[in-house]
Amino acid sequence: MVKIGPVTLPDFPLLLAPMEDVSDPPFRAVCKDKGADLMYTEFISSEGLIRDAIKSKKKLDIFDYERPVGIQIFGGDEESLGLAAKIVEVTQPDLLDINFGCPVKKVALKGAGAGVLRDVDLTVRLTKAVVQSTSLPVTVKTRLGWDDSNKNIEEVAERLQDVGIKALAIHGRTRVQMYKGEADWTLIGKIKNNPRITIPIFGNGDIDSPEKALAYKNRYGVDGIMIGRAAIGYPWIFNEIKHFMKTGEHLPAPTIEDRLAVCRKHLRYSIEWKNPVVGINEMRRHYANYLKGLPNIKEYRNKLVTLRTEEELNAVFDEMARVYEGFTFEKTPIALINYHEKCPID
Ligand SMILES: Cc1cc2nc3c(=O)[nH]c(=O)nc-3n(C[C@H](O)[C@H](O)[C@H](O)COP(=O)(O)O)c2cc1C
Repeated sequence: MVKIGPVTLPDFPLLLAPMEDVSDPPFRAVCKDKGADLMYTEFISSEGLIRDAIKSKKKLDIFDYERPVGIQIFGGDEESLGLAAKIVEVTQPDLLDINFGCPVKKVALKGAGAGVLRDVDLTVRLTKAVVQSTSLPVTVKTRLGWDDSNKNIEEVAERLQDVGIKALAIHGRTRVQMYKGEADWTLIGKIKNNPRITIPIFGNGDIDSPEKALAYKNRYGVDGIMIGRAAIGYPWIFNEIKHFMKTGEHLPAPTIEDRLAVCRKHLRYSIEWKNPVVGINEMRRHYANYLKGLPNIKEYRNKLVTLRTEEELNAVFDEMARVYEGFTFEKTPIALINYHEKCPID
């Protein structure tokens, strides 16, 4: 059992990483179904929340079936973050997470996101402002530091624990690294093994297979793993890792029927959450991920990204189920894309 303040998670929980333009309620519903133990919203601008921006407000939507769920905010100003925390509290998530890791220029250069990482005192003050403004358990997600010569995460971890955060998720890269190179979990392991640290430490970065998850669990001793990119188009990763850790065996790969069922469900949730026009539109970015590895997919993909009604889309899924019946995917089609170029918030 892992405790984040009053929130109880199973042993070695698997967390769905917060991902802007990806981890919205429809995607979270699918990941929950496939074994995610704790999920986060996309990050939400504290300034946006205070100004009542529609986009920021909409991201506060959470549903009972996805609990436990955390709302993630970012910002570079104590007062704004404190006010945003109060707004978040009204929506009653299970926890409130602060992002100190987003490397995207728009965010970092405004002094929020990983930009804060250059200044440990500021990181601590911002965190304290949030902790003091809410009765929700506060957690932090961050990177190793600003750059190679400034990996201050060990100090950050201790000082953030001292001001009251209840868990820390660490992406094993620096801000300057963006998504380049391999995530380095050495420091994450060191923090976990620091006897001063009593809060759960979650490792994040490049987990894309059950083998790697198990190896990193054993090597670094973290309390759980956070998974981002590998879940995009492949939410099965959560149950696959759990099954492998429990039995040493692999679950059978999802069939074409499983994939199409997830497409249908994701689409249905998108429509319910937004409306048919926006829901169908936003779902378009997901099909290629869910259907990666299928031969001669172009014709269907073109239909899926142009048709405008759920009925027509379901008819395409029906046809695909017939055409590809019995198709087995050669290997888990997971790709850790270098998102800093594609990232919709870049
Ligand atoms: C499309 C995309 C959007 C992201 N948006 C956020 C975000 O809103 N908040 C955040 O803390 N991290 C964000 N991240 C970073 C991820 O949460 C995670 O730390 C990173 O992708 C490394 O984990 P992975 O290797 O499992 O993908 C984003 C990553 C991607 C790929």
